[in-house]
Amino acid sequence: MSFATARGDIKAIQEEILRLKEERNAVILAHNYQLPEVQDVADFVGDSLGLARKAAQTDAEVIVFCGVNFMAETAKILNPDKTVLIPDPGAGCSLADSITVEQLREWKKQHPGAVVVCYINTTADVKTECDYIFTSSNAVKVINAIPEDREILLLPDKYLGMWIRRVTGRENIRIWDGACHVHAGLSYEEMKRLKETYPDAELLVHPECGCSSQCLYNASLMDGNNGIEVKILSTSGMIRYAARSDRQKFIIATEVGILYPLKKKNPHKEFLPANREAVCEYMKMITIEKLRDSLREMKYRIELPDEVMERALLPIKRMLELSS
Ligand code: 13P
Ligand code: SF4
Repeated sequence: MSFATARGDIKAIQEEILRLKEERNAVILAHNYQLPEVQDVADFVGDSLGLARKAAQTDAEVIVFCGVNFMAETAKILNPDKTVLIPDPGAGCSLADSITVEQLREWKKQHPGAVVVCYINTTADVKTECDYIFTSSNAVKVINAIPEDREILLLPDKYLGMWIRRVTGRENIRIWDGACHVHAGLSYEEMKRLKETYPDAELLVHPECGCSSQCLYNASLMDGNNGIEVKILSTSGMIRYAARSDRQKFIIATEVGILYPLKKKNPHKEFLPANREAVCEYMKMITIEKLRDSLREMKYRIELPDEVMERALLPIKRMLELSS
């Protein structure tokens, strides 16, 4: 909630948003890290894969995307004839910014014949140079669809890449040296300390976290009783898992916005953030006031060159087909 906005004002703004949404024939899609009051007016709240799926299915004329730029761009690529709005065009992503299309072209030149597999957290320009896109929900499925003898260039997240290498057992994956500033700081030592403090809690970790690979390695030592129990999951994967687990307490290693939908869907369970400071300032740029203004003034429109949309569509479509 923005500090300047009192609860009554929020209610009034939310009501206006719902009214405007009908008038504009719009759908509101929101990521799990969005502010609670934004999530509460969304038609769908989810992870990157779920949001891309919803964007591909909607028959609304306008999509208002409450998330970061690369997510809104993906919605536009899937709907070139629709109006796609983002309430604040400054909502970037440090991970997506860790590689440019020029850098990727240069990397490809050094490894001719390699299959380029890229995380959805990339710009539309970078996606034009990729063969497959994946998200945290379907990474292993996408990698397993590539013949084992083909070399893979995986970008841009090194922690996610190392985790994929460990899970798939593939040695021929080259990994770009990028990271998300929010997840990189979540260390294995911290997870271990938290598990010792709360032995009954289950540890749920996002694969972008700096600890994901080491947590998984140490989990594999469980039989010898040296490791810690861990589940590596996408943001929506965490919500689904918490609902079906018998445990009552969970340590959550990802951006803290996830605590709101986790608690909403599992009101009787307890969720402890691995780090309260793990806040994505880009996600929080989308305030309830900016969402209202976006619908009022039909701003800010996502515009991409036709050629970029055409070329980026193919790897996104492959991703959706592989995860249907
Ligand atoms: P999810 O697809 O798991 O929601 O992750 C997106 C993201 O940006 C995580 O930082
Ligand atoms: Fe990007 Fe990290 Fe924010 Fe996710 S949490 S949107 S990866 S900067």
